[in-house]
Amino acid sequence: MPDRKFRIVICRGPDCGDRRGSEALGAVFQKAVDDHGVAATTEIAWQSCFGRCTQGPNVLVRELLPPDGKPTLGTGFATLPGPRGTTALYNAIDESRARVIVTEHVVNGRVARELIDPPGAGGFRLVPVASRKSEP
Ligand code: FES
Repeated sequence: MPDRKFRIVICRGPDCGDRRGSEALGAVFQKAVDDHGVAATTEIAWQSCFGRCTQGPNVLVRELLPPDGKPTLGTGFATLPGPRGTTALYNAIDESRARVIVTEHVVNGRVARELIDPPGAGGFRLVPVASRKSEP
């Protein structure tokens, strides 16, 4: 897909970054982008918070189109059609999932729907210490 360009935006807010180490994902995404030879058409950026903290680390992949480009159609939940092309917010991202995102979304142009959780579901959940059950 030589004509398609993407921006990968990694959440580095307090839950994703401080608690779940999302800062390390930048290097993982960069390596995957380099390995696939799409560095010239893929930007990696940071976001302070996507408002989906309990499901983090979260990563937004947005297709970038030229001003006269035609948008691609959305493919369902958590994907947005529009002037920026196909966009998806992925949840609970680790190294393995990061590689799948680059392979499927950036290289193959397919939203990796299996890595998208509905709001309030899935992802890593923080359990307050006071609500944890003690060991028997
Ligand atoms: S800190 Fe990542 S979504 Fe809020």
